[in-house]
Amino acid sequence: MTSRHLLDLAIRNATVATSSGVATMDIGVADGKIVQLGRVQEAADEFDAEGLIVTPGGVDTHTHLDQVMPGMGHGAESLATGGRSALAGGTTTAITFVTQLPEYTLSETLNETLRRGDSALIDFGLHQIVTDPTPEILAEIPSVIDRGVRSLKAFLTYDDARLNDDGFLNVLEAARRGGAMVAVHCENFHAIGWLTEKLLADGRKAPKYHAWSRPVIVEREATYRAICLAELVDTPIQIFHVSCAEVAEEIARAQARGVKVWGETCPQYLTLTDADLDRPGFEGAGYVCSPALRSKADHEGLWEMIRRGVIDVITSDHAPSNLTGPNGKDAAGRDAPFSDIPNGVPGIGARMPLVFSEGVSTGRISLDHFVRLTATNPAKLYGLAPRKGDIVVGADADLVLWDPQREVKLTNDIMQHAIDYTPYEGKTVTGWPVATYLRGQIVMRDGEVFASEGTGQYLSRDPYPLATPRGEVPNDFFAANIDTL
Ligand code: URP
Ligand code: ZN
Ligand code: ZN
Repeated sequence: MTSRHLLDLAIRNATVATSSGVATMDIGVADGKIVQLGRVQEAADEFDAEGLIVTPGGVDTHTHLDQVMPGMGHGAESLATGGRSALAGGTTTAITFVTQLPEYTLSETLNETLRRGDSALIDFGLHQIVTDPTPEILAEIPSVIDRGVRSLKAFLTYDDARLNDDGFLNVLEAARRGGAMVAVHCENFHAIGWLTEKLLADGRKAPKYHAWSRPVIVEREATYRAICLAELVDTPIQIFHVSCAEVAEEIARAQARGVKVWGETCPQYLTLTDADLDRPGFEGAGYVCSPALRSKADHEGLWEMIRRGVIDVITSDHAPSNLTGPNGKDAAGRDAPFSDIPNGVPGIGARMPLVFSEGVSTGRISLDHFVRLTATNPAKLYGLAPRKGDIVVGADADLVLWDPQREVKLTNDIMQHAIDYTPYEGKTVTGWPVATYLRGQIVMRDGEVFASEGTGQYLSRDPYPLATPRGEVPNDFFAANIDTL
């Protein structure tokens, strides 16, 4: 803070969107924190934001940055390169993953991920993936949680990552004991394998058959199963990347009976369709992600689930595969079957503009709902609040200034990520982030990112209420023993 001024920064006359409403006011910042709201004092740095909207910096709690991926090393995107894209697109905080690697302890891989995180451009937290819950790994989980990794990630599909039901139960129990949230990728592994075998035997190899191999029912069944098992153990869970309303319906039913379950979706499920998988040449491979893309009608079904509050978080699921070359979708060759194409689409930079445009600019959701979906709710769900995710006194001054009228055609250059394509190429959005502040420092203006490597900080998370069990288990034996079984 300067000696002459109480405030380092004042943003004046902005339309400020918080989680609870929208009002014209000034924002006063000192020492990287929001310290005054309303009419604020003179500051060393004055910014008149009349005509602009200010939202909290985006919080993207599902990104694959600096994560070791099977066969891909750390992939094509790091917390530095992906962080640049994030800041350009109005996101200031992300959570990425620590993988379980067979030859290392969890803490060794965590150390290495934190070392890589020293180059981050954005603030970041970590989820711990558990793919093989051996007794040794289960015994190590409490110390990982104690290092601020207050969420575990489980896959119910993928050859090299999936858990069967008893493994998943053990992960749920470990999370419950440690007060951690569990994030789950829900698809039925065996049904996908069975369908894939039949499709390939029939010569159906093209990317579009990826969607045929993973119809809605494989996602819906696994979602229902994950919820039931979490309900059995009484562990709070979030269902990752819900692709359509039929899947969200399983979440709604469980929420109605009081289960601590939340749903996440991503812009790809609100804007892209299975027809994109059938683009000419190799282009369709760029749209291979799991769960698979659905139809245009499913977009509206998901928006309805968002408006109902069943889905209350939108993340990018930013995945680190190029279309071609190293870490490319073509790693197994351009004629390889769909089942050999790496899954996932990039989107950390596109997420906020896409949700603003498709949600707020079209009138599907209000501005404060946008704030809750993209910042406040993910921050709360993963224990980053109240420091992150809202514009309130005491929070980090992570702020995004939007020109709500600006129309921008998305291109891969604008994304500023290290990936060689964007699935949103050529799409026009209305509403654009023109400046981003991270802890009170300007880190992006008009697309130019000023943050240097190391600007980002690791966010070690403390115990928090949403991750605590609700206290309802099936019988007295369970109640008396679950913590000691
Ligand atoms: O297809 C996807 N979603 N790839 C990224 C990894 C995952 O499943 O989240
Ligand atoms: Zn997933
Ligand atoms: Zn993912």
